Amino acid sequence: MNSALNLPKLIYRTLSLKLSKNKSNPTTDYNLISTSYDEYYSRYLGKAALELLEKLPVNPDQCILDLACGTGFFTHPLAEKVGKNGKVFAVDLSSGMLECNQKNALLKQLSNIMFVESDALLFMDGIANESLDGIVCGWGICYMDHVKLLQSMERIVKPGGFIGIIENRSSSLKAVSDMFMKALVTHPNAMIKNTEIHLPKDKDYLVKTFTKRGIVAESAWNGKVTIPCKSGDEVAEYMLKSGASAGFLDALDKNLLPEVMKSFVIHIDKSMANGQSIPVNHEYCALVATKSV
Ligand SMILES: C[S@@+](CC[C@H](N)C(=O)[O-])C[C@H]1O[C@@H](n2cnc3c(N)ncnc32)[C@H](O)[C@@H]1O
Repeated sequence: MNSALNLPKLIYRTLSLKLSKNKSNPTTDYNLISTSYDEYYSRYLGKAALELLEKLPVNPDQCILDLACGTGFFTHPLAEKVGKNGKVFAVDLSSGMLECNQKNALLKQLSNIMFVESDALLFMDGIANESLDGIVCGWGICYMDHVKLLQSMERIVKPGGFIGIIENRSSSLKAVSDMFMKALVTHPNAMIKNTEIHLPKDKDYLVKTFTKRGIVAESAWNGKVTIPCKSGDEVAEYMLKSGASAGFLDALDKNLLPEVMKSFVIHIDKSMANGQSIPVNHEYCALVATKSV
């Protein structure tokens, strides 16, 4: 197929899908990968998330909200720290991710977690003013409207309460995205929905966006995690099973997905054979902030 002719076709298709407001649904993809998420995503990104967890002022008896809680990477240590007189609200849109979270909590005999299948912002709308000691959102703000998120967080956190955020930066997985675009140019008809993901630029964006109206930054940092992939197949396996491509897979025609993935792998292997490195880099940023008393 002639890629030069397909590029304008792909650009036209991307723009039309944007205008059509036919959005992909990341939840569909998270439901599909929920059982492999920990083995692929948490295994590598967990170290970065732990750094955030250690900086949060979590204490016994607190009531904490874990937004976009997934399989429970933050939920479970938070529930352990707040103890049996404390409480964690674990909120997620994906029933598959929540099911894994619930199963693991049961194995750990954690009984102070309330699991809620809901959109994060909708759930927060039903929470009383200044009623929470802290809010954590791990790798989830990219699916939310940041202005509304700040408004809700500021309203429901108690004075002296905390906010903890970690998210991939917009520069994340750049080399992999470039290969994916090359594969899509070969199959421009494969894209059938628009993907809308709001990744922050860096820690300065987090500080600027989430420290208004009495929310004060305690610390903010950038970091990078490299996934050790040595071939196109390994990159594809990581992207398909970790959730790193959630929202992008649902945007594709299921019948054409195998073809797209096949050319994705070929493009990576060719580039690697030519000495070009295709690093699978998750660049991320994080913020710990508190609400003034
Ligand atoms: C990368 S996972 C992060 C899971 C977990 N916080 C962690 O640190 O491992 C992103 C999660 O966000 C959830 N999610 C996406 N959009 C959401 C929304 N609007 N409201 C609530 N959860 C959402 C997904 O279902 C998924 O479980």
